[in-house]
Amino acid sequence: AEGLFETGSLSGKTVVITAGPTREAVDPVRYISNHSSGKMGYALAQAAIDAGAKTILISGPTGLPVPDRVQHIPVISADDMYRESLVHAVDCQLFIAAAAVADYRPAVLAEQKIKKGADDEMVIRLVKNPDIVAAVAALPQGQRPFTVGFAAESECLLQHARGKLERKNLDLIIANDIVAEGIGFNSDDNAVTVIDKSGELALDKQSKSGIARQLIALLAKKLPASGT
Ligand code: CTP
Ligand code: CA
Repeated sequence: AEGLFETGSLSGKTVVITAGPTREAVDPVRYISNHSSGKMGYALAQAAIDAGAKTILISGPTGLPVPDRVQHIPVISADDMYRESLVHAVDCQLFIAAAAVADYRPAVLAEQKIKKGADDEMVIRLVKNPDIVAAVAALPQGQRPFTVGFAAESECLLQHARGKLERKNLDLIIANDIVAEGIGFNSDDNAVTVIDKSGELALDKQSKSGIARQLIALLAKKLPASGT
């Protein structure tokens, strides 16, 4: 926490964080989603506030309490999250994509509740959602924040994470082993490996708030000097 005359490592900076799952509507009563709890993104928002940043949390439905002084922008679908993220990304210095964005959404949103048919099978056609963190990383110089992604993988963790760092043109990626014991997704603990051009750093298993504080401290050091 900040003392009266101290300034945090992120004071004067604006941080935008995406968190939680998205929901992709099928019809008025159904959706496609995932098991993301949002805990890691919310822990990052708390750590960013504690470091003195103006903090904007763009979150899918989680039911988690929003940390004090954090500006919360609730969203439902990946499309909503994409729109809000680009609005706010252009005015921030650090963008952290912790959300578990649905990769696909139903191609058509049925206006009425879909009825059970006579057929024993049914097919929902899906179309790809926009890649939010890649779009932020592709913003022009001057509008582009330091851009950080997560990679949640069930296999070949570091290899896939390095691939995403490259493909999405990120400044840094946090690799998250979702099948390792007692960590990731709904857990209160996490263990991650931070990867950027300069190398890799493993953070040992600990509470998500501990991981978040370490990540924010590390990211504060990596941010370019503002020059103002
Ligand atoms: N992400 C995003 N928008 C999407 C999909 C993912 O911003 N439409 C972000 C996530 O928030 C995360 C990073 O991209 O920071 C990696 O997400 P992940 O699901 O691991 O990667 P994908 O590119 O979707 O690849 P795949 O799911 O096939 O592994
Ligand atoms: Ca994905």
